Amino acid sequence: MAILPILVAPDPLLKVKAKPVERVDESVRTLMDDMLETMYAAPGIGLAAPQVGVARRVIVLDIAREGEPKRPLRIADPEIVWVSDDDAERNEGCLSVPEHYADVVRPAEVKVRYLDENGARQEIHATDLLATCLQHEIDHLDGVLFIDHISALRRNMILRKLVKARRVGA
Ligand code: NI
Repeated sequence: MAILPILVAPDPLLKVKAKPVERVDESVRTLMDDMLETMYAAPGIGLAAPQVGVARRVIVLDIAREGEPKRPLRIADPEIVWVSDDDAERNEGCLSVPEHYADVVRPAEVKVRYLDENGARQEIHATDLLATCLQHEIDHLDGVLFIDHISALRRNMILRKLVKARRVGA
């Protein structure tokens, strides 16, 4: 396993539409494991392959709280097949948008079909934090960041600060 560098907005690779995996092979499983290790080290509760510069439709999540046993989810080619009529607003952050947070409104519940690490078809009905997290990570596969769901004014302010922070850090 390896910890991979996480890209920070406005990196153009974060805006790319990722390609389907179609077949979960050893290289995809290694990517999933490396992404989980990277996510736990950050620390974060979700990570999408484009955030480590890989334009494939792979995401990993673990919403277990600190002190609880780990519950990693390894997901390839996720597809949202149902969303609830009810919306939920949650304060979101992102490892690619460090130190910035914003309230985002999304469907409160979703059903997602995907391939697991063994290539088996799975479907989950997600609620609460998991529903938000899944939608956030699936967005990454289409080049969409949580700041794309807020006002352009606020988004541009955050992006300017990230560019400035990078210059200071360089
Ligand atoms: Ni994110």
